[in-house]
Amino acid sequence: EHAVPVVTIDGPAGAGKGTVSRLVAQALGWGYLDSGALYRAVGIAASWEGIGLDEPENLAACAARTDIKFVTQQHEEPKIFVNEKEATAEIRSELAGSMASALAAQPLVRQALVALQRGFRQPPGLVADGRDMGTVIFPDAPYKFFLTASPLERAQRRYKQLMEKGVSVKLDALLHEIVARDERDANRAVAPLKPADDAIVIDSTSMPIDAVIGQVLSALPPRFRR
Ligand code: CDP
Ligand code: CDP
Repeated sequence: EHAVPVVTIDGPAGAGKGTVSRLVAQALGWGYLDSGALYRAVGIAASWEGIGLDEPENLAACAARTDIKFVTQQHEEPKIFVNEKEATAEIRSELAGSMASALAAQPLVRQALVALQRGFRQPPGLVADGRDMGTVIFPDAPYKFFLTASPLERAQRRYKQLMEKGVSVKLDALLHEIVARDERDANRAVAPLKPADDAIVIDSTSMPIDAVIGQVLSALPPRFRR
């Protein structure tokens, strides 16, 4: 048994993984891995370097050399720096999401990010958010969750998030993009989006965020709460 505990939170786009993971990590005093941001960062770095989504070797090399930094700020979303350049807003666009999903289907790219992701497992513990945290990256994690919600609910959540940031989008276009991305993520050959056999599935369609966090925390041993 690994000495450092991990909570994995996987699920489709807009399910609330990021928000729930950050708050659970905060409640426990543990670290947080936003694995989706790594794929998004590689997509952005590749586009800066003019590497096409159809160049697996070049993308994998790009994934291996791209410097990705998370700067945590109290009560705010962490800032993300890609090769020393701030990319926090750029990374959250649906364009960056679908680029990430295209390159994330490539085995060489995924391989290039495995060690980096496992390196986040540091004492006292880690909350890891993504698609394959419980199935591939941390299969021995003792606490696994799969967070989902209806596609329309997820699109509405993402719509609200983007509008609040001053990004104007159309709800029906967003819904379409999110569904297409989920489909690609769920149907790819490597590390497809699916609950680990031992994951607790939470459908949050009509749950407030605090209730989701409460459900996750109540499944963990009380000794972890600080
Ligand atoms: O990381 P992921 O794409 O799964 O979702 P997120 O970025 O955490 O976005 C979810 C958005 O929906 C956030 O603005 C949350 O406040 C909101 N929300 C939620 O996450 N869970 C609920 N049960 C209700 C709302
Ligand atoms: O926040 P949201 O759920 O919309 O996306 P994300 O978690 O930032 O992930 C963006 C894309 O990266 C996903 O659509 C996946 O294709 C890919 N990804 C992945 O393949 N494996 C992960 N562990 C995390 C993300």
